Amino acid sequence: MKQKVTITIDGNSTDLPVLEATEGTNVVDVRGLIKEGVFTYDPGFLSTASCDSTVTYIDGDAGILTYRGYPIDQLAQQSNHLEVCYLLLNGELPSPEQLQSFEASIKEKQYVDKTFQNIFSGFTQGAHPMAMVGSAISGLAALYHEETDITNSDDRMTTAHRLIAMIPTLAAMAYKHGKGESFVEPDPSLGYAENFLNMCFGETGKPSTVSPTIAAAMDRIFLLHADHEQNASTSTVRMAGSTDCNPYAAISAGVSALWGPAHGGANEAVLLMLNEIGDESRVEEYVAKAKDKDDPFKLMGFGHRVYKNFDPRATVMQESCEAVFNELGTNDPLLKVARQLEKIAREDDYFVERKLYPNIDFYSGITLKAVGIPTELFTVIFTLGRMPGWITHWNEMLSAPYKIARPRQLYLGEKKRDYIKMSAR
Ligand code: CMC
Repeated sequence: MKQKVTITIDGNSTDLPVLEATEGTNVVDVRGLIKEGVFTYDPGFLSTASCDSTVTYIDGDAGILTYRGYPIDQLAQQSNHLEVCYLLLNGELPSPEQLQSFEASIKEKQYVDKTFQNIFSGFTQGAHPMAMVGSAISGLAALYHEETDITNSDDRMTTAHRLIAMIPTLAAMAYKHGKGESFVEPDPSLGYAENFLNMCFGETGKPSTVSPTIAAAMDRIFLLHADHEQNASTSTVRMAGSTDCNPYAAISAGVSALWGPAHGGANEAVLLMLNEIGDESRVEEYVAKAKDKDDPFKLMGFGHRVYKNFDPRATVMQESCEAVFNELGTNDPLLKVARQLEKIAREDDYFVERKLYPNIDFYSGITLKAVGIPTELFTVIFTLGRMPGWITHWNEMLSAPYKIARPRQLYLGEKKRDYIKMSAR
């Protein structure tokens, strides 16, 4: 029998249907409540599903994450980022021919228009690469506005391919501009992650010297970040997209939302925090600060809104982190601080009771540091990884009937009052 929830307002009862999830939590459909003259109140969406979706499932208590039903650890160990992009976009794993044709489409679209490349010269050398990448993606709207019909599913898929193809090129350009170096052209003979690393650290015309272990770790970072259901940036993309705006504009809104240290900026914040701590001897002091309610300091890379036991992405990322450390035999003092912090936080009652485990950004942050990626590029790498998730959710929303996202509010301001003339104030 279908479940329902009955609510009573001033003696009048109303039944609200319960919608059944394939897996996980069912939702109470409150859409009919407006007729009863009340809204629901849920700042931060703690108890609110903003949409239905078939892309990604998370069980935060059990530490489960699946993309289109496939567990993240199986995908990380047996697949690669581009195959996962296909899976997210199309709902099924590709046949060999489908994958080949998808890869060819991505390689063909990775070049950025020469005139458009001038967008980077408007930025000072010290500009944060997230600002450059967000602006460049938004700028693509100008390049492709006329030819993008968001009601046409083929156009939407072309946009998706283009964004997945171009984001490594734009990210590498932002990095090179910051260094005052010339751009390196994409190399279609290289894999997705290797090509990105080569565009950042290689030179045009010279063969790639990217280590396979490091390319594999980078590919895994992309794959593990590829989607995470209705997180802040994906919800931002959906919200902006619900106004029928240009898809590049919607995605650049997602880039902005990702930048914050409570979301994608956390991997950069982890390194800034490790730098601030500086030495193993100061770890205890910072752990005490994190526990002090009067101190705003938090341990970056610990805790998660959804995962309350462990972050399954962190478990897989930890393996890649070890592989990179083994290959590079790294002796960086900041990595020792990270190890010490991880140990204390895992044993300390404050963190154990609140289920604050190291999250993916803790391990991706220290892996990127070991590889020699500059800190300011960390969130750009998250952006690169999350692109297929954003564009898949945008496409999912536009493929079915949808409404403009327009939340309501609980108004607590002044009641209506008359304007007071300046002379009377
Ligand atoms: N350090 C110290 N205390 C913490 C931390 C932390 N990193 N995270 C949460 N707490 C405490 C918090 O003060 C609260 O304590 P109390 O119950 O005594 O008031 C309790 O744990 C519950 O925290 P919350 O703030 O209610 O949890 P939330 O779900 O609203 O926030 C979070 C989740 C990720 C924003 C938060 O844990 C945080 O700021 N972590 C550090 C930033 C970070 O690593 N973010 C990346 C998340 S993973 C990337 C992604 O998927 O976007």
